[in-house]
Amino acid sequence: MKNRNAVGLFRVTMTDDFASGDVSTMTYDLDMLEATPHARSRATALEMHHVRHAYGSHVAVDDVSLDLAPGEVVCLLGPSGCGKTTLLRVAAGLEKLQQGRVVISGRDIGVPGRRHVPPEKRSVGLSFQDSALFPHLTVLENVTFGLEALPVRERRERAMELLEQLGMATYAKAYPHMLSGGQQQRVALARALAPAPQVMLLDEPFSSLDARLRDRIRDDTLHVLKRLGTGTLLVTHDPEEAMFMADRIALMRDGRIVQMGTPQELYCAPVHPFVVTFFGAVNELQGEVREGHVQTPIGRVAAPGLAEGSRAQVLVRPEALRIHALDIPDDAHRYSHVIMAKLLGSSSLLHLCAHGEDGREAHLHARVPGVFLPAPKQPVQISLDPSQVFVFPADL
Ligand SMILES: Nc1ncnc2c1ncn2[C@@H]1O[C@H](COP(=O)(O)OP(=O)(O)OP(=O)(O)O)[C@@H](O)[C@H]1O
Ligand SMILES: [Mg+2]
Repeated sequence: MKNRNAVGLFRVTMTDDFASGDVSTMTYDLDMLEATPHARSRATALEMHHVRHAYGSHVAVDDVSLDLAPGEVVCLLGPSGCGKTTLLRVAAGLEKLQQGRVVISGRDIGVPGRRHVPPEKRSVGLSFQDSALFPHLTVLENVTFGLEALPVRERRERAMELLEQLGMATYAKAYPHMLSGGQQQRVALARALAPAPQVMLLDEPFSSLDARLRDRIRDDTLHVLKRLGTGTLLVTHDPEEAMFMADRIALMRDGRIVQMGTPQELYCAPVHPFVVTFFGAVNELQGEVREGHVQTPIGRVAAPGLAEGSRAQVLVRPEALRIHALDIPDDAHRYSHVIMAKLLGSSSLLHLCAHGEDGREAHLHARVPGVFLPAPKQPVQISLDPSQVFVFPADL
């Protein structure tokens, strides 16, 4: 049986022999370990050019290009099945490159039909969701495992330093079965980071942790990656995790990158409705473009670049709605009003019935900070924060 979820800077396909303790067949590559910071900063850590990858007739990754600077964290974000893991596996060399180019630290590492540098020769650290530790080795031995080219003392120092940073130093002598899932995941990360790879490829490394532990390990990991200056490609389907971790995000759909940029660019200047909706539920309205604007039940919205008379979709984030309670009789038929209000913790969610000037009505959700729970039928005035409203052609 093969296990493809192993981690570290060594052979990544594990056989039963390997899992049961025979590690003599493992190879690893430390020839890039001593690269100077100067040498590192000249090259991009990772480049992928026009990569396409199909399983049989199913195209999983289609014409994807991206680059990763040394020390940069790029998150591959997207819904299940969009090709994130496949792209990571191509970068790692776990899948043979079918089309395109892969360059790691200035070195062409995959050219279809001509060159396939195996994973253990790529100076990449890998950590997959179900990272398997070596059960017969202690935590410290697991982390020093890929460092045999170094003197014993240095090996130990480096491993202990990483364990310290990930809050696992006190477990150095423990065996994997004595650790919780989250603790094992931290050790696996330390092991993958220990050889100071130029590039870390992390596939949903926090997904099996509970929310609170996940926040802490994410934070610890981010600080370690930044301190080591490792270029990291991190897969997640969680937009909040991507925004927390990433310098840049590549949002994928159906094997393609829809938009790549800083979290702020994706959130504040989305190029496609998919980018808007991926970061959270939005209110969707439709209308016709007249004099460069679309009339909606909550007011006129500018529609730059859209053809006069064309249909437009208007996407309004719940936090774009500003709500002002009106001190008038609750005549629910004439005014925009509250349908119900729910406390979500740090914010309140209002279900609203908006009445437009043209008599049109819309059911909208507004998210307002703090505890704001007006009674049903409360008349309200609704205004818009235009920076959280996005207009696209209706058929996009
Ligand atoms: N070994 C395989 N053989 C055949 N099809 C595969 C294989 N691995 C993945 N696929 C298909 O390729 C597509 C992309 O899969 P991939 O695992 O890259 O998605 P993903 O974005 O990582 O999804 P998830 O968020 O669920 O992990 C999917 O449709 C999947 O079914
Ligand atoms: Mg995946």
